[in-house]
Formats: sequence, C-alpha cells, structure tokens
Amino acid sequence: ALVSAKEMLIKARDNGYGVAQININNLEWTKATLQVAQELNSPIILGVSEGAAKYMGGYRLVMAMVRELVASLNITVPVAVHLDHGTYEGAYKALEAGFTSIMFDGSHYPIAENVEKTREIVAACHAKGVSVEAEVGSIGGEEDGVIGAGELADPKECALIASLGVDLFAAGIGNIHGKYPANWKGLDFDVLQEVQRVTNKVPLVLHGGTGIPEHMIKKAISLGVTKINVNTELQLAFAEATRKYIEAGKDLESKGFDPRKLLAPGVEAIKTVVREKLTMFGSVNKA
Ligand code: G3H
Ligand code: ZN
Repeated sequence: ALVSAKEMLIKARDNGYGVAQININNLEWTKATLQVAQELNSPIILGVSEGAAKYMGGYRLVMAMVRELVASLNITVPVAVHLDHGTYEGAYKALEAGFTSIMFDGSHYPIAENVEKTREIVAACHAKGVSVEAEVGSIGGEEDGVIGAGELADPKECALIASLGVDLFAAGIGNIHGKYPANWKGLDFDVLQEVQRVTNKVPLVLHGGTGIPEHMIKKAISLGVTKINVNTELQLAFAEATRKYIEAGKDLESKGFDPRKLLAPGVEAIKTVVREKLTMFGSVNKA
C-alpha cells in the first residue's frame, strides 16, 4: 500500500528500529526493492532524487510505475515514495505528481530562508497528507549533483526547523554521501544526541547510509534515527555483479546479451544489499 512516511516512522521510533530509504534508478531497482520488502514483511521508502526522476521520465512516470508494480506484484507492506534532496520547485512538482513524501533540502539556504520555504512546503504537503523531511547542516560529498560541505548541524537551527511541523528531520552529523574516506572520523554522536534533545522526538534521518558500520547504525537508531538512506552501495553492488558477468564472457554465450539475462546478476546483487539493510535496521516483520 502507498502511504506517507509519517506513521511508519513514528512506529519505528517508538519501537526502536529503522526504516530503509532505498534510492531507485529504474524499473529493475524499483521491482527488486519492492520484492525484498514484501518478502521480509518490512515497510520501505523508495527514495527518488531529482536526477533519478528525470532519468526515469519524470515524477508522474515514477508514480505510475510504482503504483502499477505495487498492484501487479501484490505488495501489501507500507511503501512511501519519497523525493530525495528536493529543491523548492522539485518539491511542488513531486507533490503534484502524487509522491507520498517529500524532502525539501533547504540546508544550503541562509537559515531564515530555509525556515520560510520549509514552512510553506509543510503547509502544502500536509494539506494532501504528504510527509515532509527537512535538513539542517549539509551532508558531505556529492549525490546527483547535490554537493554538500559536510558541516555539522547547529542545534539552535535544528530546533527552529524541526518546530515547523516537519515529520522527519535530517541533520549533518559527520555523514557523507558516497564512500567514506579511510580517515573518516565516524558519526558525531554528541551532535546527534543534542539534535535529538532539541528536536522533540521528531523521527531523525541518517543520510549517506553507504558503508556506515553496523555498530554506528545501531547506536544512531538508539539516539532517534528512524530512517537511513542508502544509494551508492546498491550502485556499487549492481556494477560489480554486471562487470563479473561480462568479464566471464556470459554475454557472448546463448543469448546472454538479452537485457533480461544481462541485468539479472545486478538485480540479485541489489536484492542482497536490500535484504542486508532491512535486517540490520531491524524492520523485518514490522510491516
Ligand atoms: O539521500 C540519499 C542518501 O543520503 C544516500 O547516501 O549514497 O551514501 O548511500 P549514499
Ligand atoms: Zn542524502
């Protein structure tokens, strides 16, 4: 069933587990993610960046694809379709297209402007029962052209933005998009604890889920993180499995070049990562 992210995350927060946001790129990605969520009886959030939406043919096409897959695959677990790192304009377009959850990433604006725009988007989304994620303190690294400095969130600004009625709140706590460098200092749990304290139990979001060790994920969940975003790790797994298939020359054997065969190992690799994450975050059998 297609739902907003609000209820599933309140349930996760109150029961001490996390829900995965798995970023999708195409039909294979979406289908694999939905199938694993159903198989493990887990709620799931499909993350769609503006770049990925454009690649897939637009917000409306993404919604049509997800709706049809949910129906044809008999997906009964809660599924949210969430705009990832949305711009002001993108947020309205995704809302119009029927997305059930929207992230407005105003972290690069001066705080007053982030407040004004977030407040406005919360009103527009809530009028349609759509959940809203806001962000303070940019996530480091780059995702789909969204480049962040990796600054730690200012707790005062977090309190301000979280008080605007947002349903999910993302704060920069030393997390980075993409692979973590060898000299990464880890998540800043002091900042996370402070963010949790000042945001009054709003479900928190951990971006940059790729490569964060399990013990840090578990600690973050214990400090109020209820949504963990994973993107790059699936891309790496897909690429590796596809490379192996081609390097083994399998595309040259009996119709191995048929995309339904060529993409199958990558799809299996995606499924393996999604299974691992849902298990690690604790959302299995929590649908
Ligand atoms: O918004 C999406 C996530 O923050 C993904 O981060 O690519 O490092 O897993 P990641
Ligand atoms: Zn992110």
